Amino acid sequence: MRHLLDIDDLSTEELSELLATGADISKNKEKYMDICHGKKLATLFFEPSTRTRLSFTAAMMELGGNVIGFSDPKSSSASKGECVSDTIRVVSNYADIIAMRHPNDGAPLSAAMHSGVPIINAGDGEHKHPTQTLADLMTIQNHLGKFDNLTIGMCGDLKYGRTVHSLIVALTRYKNVKFILISPEELKLPRHIKDIITEHDMQYIETSDMNKYMQELDVLYMTRVQQERFVDIQEYLRLKDSYILRADKLKAAKKRICIMLPLPRLNEISKYVDDDPRACYFEQTLNGKYMRMALILKLLDEYKKDSSVGREIKNQAEPIMSFSKPLKCRNPHCITNKDDDLKQLFVSDDNKVYRCAYCEQEI
Ligand code: NCD
Repeated sequence: MRHLLDIDDLSTEELSELLATGADISKNKEKYMDICHGKKLATLFFEPSTRTRLSFTAAMMELGGNVIGFSDPKSSSASKGECVSDTIRVVSNYADIIAMRHPNDGAPLSAAMHSGVPIINAGDGEHKHPTQTLADLMTIQNHLGKFDNLTIGMCGDLKYGRTVHSLIVALTRYKNVKFILISPEELKLPRHIKDIITEHDMQYIETSDMNKYMQELDVLYMTRVQQERFVDIQEYLRLKDSYILRADKLKAAKKRICIMLPLPRLNEISKYVDDDPRACYFEQTLNGKYMRMALILKLLDEYKKDSSVGREIKNQAEPIMSFSKPLKCRNPHCITNKDDDLKQLFVSDDNKVYRCAYCEQEI
């Protein structure tokens, strides 16, 4: 069964197909308005959300389907201590497809291992956010018409910003993309994502100066400092306004720079920038709806084809590498450290570096 846990679950051809479907949906809404008649999407949001949850809801409604779910774990059995895998086993008896957001890294893999229906990762902890990447790619395509030969500035919280992690991974499959990683020392991009950039023979520059490369950028992707991931609130307060994009900073920028932000906005971009035709962040939210429509269609279509799977719950884990000794992932935010009875799984690369299969933390 196909799930979308990570942007790498889609091939480059599939990404192009989804982008084409997203564009078609945006132009021919009536063609799609009944396709999901009789189907149900469950939106299970264990963490706050406005755009992602509502765009999933709107997406399913505009496809003629229905939506069930919760927006606050306090109103679900999670508040009584139910583990993710049990919730998923239950909900996959009620819905045809599930979009799930969770504060723990790797929770979507645990969900997929116990689900009878496709799982979509709607953001897991500080790890990944692949459907935001779909929205981001559609926005870049609409404004710049290509992904090759671009210089992409990523600014702000590159450590905890899951949207940045997924978008970088997606962009490394195109040609000659250069990344300018702008962050304070404390919020630098995790090592393993920098390694992915170099493995694809692409270049990145790390800097704390937002202005230095402004004239080179085709995209400036601003991010919010992710308060909810900080252990030390004083550190958050010290770093939260590290970068504020004001209109004057854009004087040096290209005429066609694409200014992006996954939203919500706190102080990252001055409201005076909103009227600049290069500001794309509200359009990003609309594109998110179209791309989520395209994704729901794709996953439901493939699920239908794969009817041999049926509605029965099977353990779909590919046992990537399972140790018999009690080796544990050391990431305190990993789902395996919340749901204790989850099987520990590890992946290794060519250099024999082992990572937790759920959260990708090196062990
Ligand atoms: C992002 C998220 O939740 O990771 N928001 C979103 O999905 N549009 C970014 C953020 O919260 O800052």
